[in-house]
Amino acid sequence: MPLVPPYIESLRPYEAGRTIESVRKKYGLIRVAKLASNENPLGPSPKAIEAIHHTFDELHLYPNGGLDLREVLARQFDLKVDNVIAGSGSEGIMSSIIRTFLCDEDEVLTTEAAFIGFQVLARSRGVKYRTVPYDQWHYDLPALASHINQNTKIIYLANPNNPTGTIFTKAQFDEFYRHVPERVLIILDEAYFEYAKDNPRYPDSMHYRYDNVITLRTFSKIYGLAGARIGYGFAHEELIRNLLKVKLPFEPSSPAQAAGIAALQDREFLHRSLALNARGVRYLTEGLEEMGLTVVPSEANFVMTVLPDGAEAARVYERLLSQGVVVRPLAAFGLPHCIRISTGTDEDNRLCIEAWRNCYAANVGASKSS
Ligand SMILES: Cc1ncc(COP(=O)(O)O)c(C=O)c1O
Repeated sequence: MPLVPPYIESLRPYEAGRTIESVRKKYGLIRVAKLASNENPLGPSPKAIEAIHHTFDELHLYPNGGLDLREVLARQFDLKVDNVIAGSGSEGIMSSIIRTFLCDEDEVLTTEAAFIGFQVLARSRGVKYRTVPYDQWHYDLPALASHINQNTKIIYLANPNNPTGTIFTKAQFDEFYRHVPERVLIILDEAYFEYAKDNPRYPDSMHYRYDNVITLRTFSKIYGLAGARIGYGFAHEELIRNLLKVKLPFEPSSPAQAAGIAALQDREFLHRSLALNARGVRYLTEGLEEMGLTVVPSEANFVMTVLPDGAEAARVYERLLSQGVVVRPLAAFGLPHCIRISTGTDEDNRLCIEAWRNCYAANVGASKSS
């Protein structure tokens, strides 16, 4: 259809993970473990739920564009409100960044198989989207630096990265940053920051602020608020001032904003979630490795396994699904031979490893990755 630009026509629509209900119905199951979208298996922060209830009486009023949350975050991180933005998830802010800063001739540079949400947003702008292969499942920052050209406008880095779960260090980032001209904007996506922050090798970007870097964070992961759509970003006031011109004026919604503010105070929930996740990453990694599978060491709330080929990954995915374990096949990211598994409750994780064992016992994923 001539109305549709070719770069939109060639996009594939986003496929959301299977819902628990649809899997239950299709396979006649009672118990389903949804380990496909890096959500918090403990549910939402209880403080956030309570705060959402308090917003109901004022749902007839338009929200204030995230100002309350921006003020809270500015106090917490010792910044000016002008350095903070809030949006409908970090993807909402990514979308504003794409619309604010990219011109037709600009290029976007990132790693191969980057976070699918960013891939879709960048490609839908119709600009050139360039990638560099991973170096042993880590960002190859020296190669990225060497691919910067006159037209590079945005570099996207996720730390920890989705789907590999790997991180880069401050020294690696600093060396890379020396090669990045000021006219290039770096998006530093820290959606999984809370899971990695206690690792001494992990650089919390709030401790190294640069004028052309925007840090993005979210309440969708550790705070259990993926359904509320609330995220935030930090950057130089000039960047935020321009983003605020483009951002939808009424995002985030009032319930989402109230939930985010309350969740920030819920230290008990945060600690409980971190402890569960650490157990889960260890359990899943060890369980899969015992079966001879390759698992990429993860600093986030998921692990990625590398299978011999795409056909085997597809077989394993279907076989796990039929046993009530929903994982994420990574073909849409660009890694058809890989599968990502989010950590669940202890019971979910046990169910998952048991289901993988059954796959191998049934000879479905028979050829081990050596
Ligand atoms: C790296 C990364 N960034 C951003 C997001 C999306 O976050 P939000 O729900 O805040 O839009 C995700 C979600 O999976 C992610 O993995």
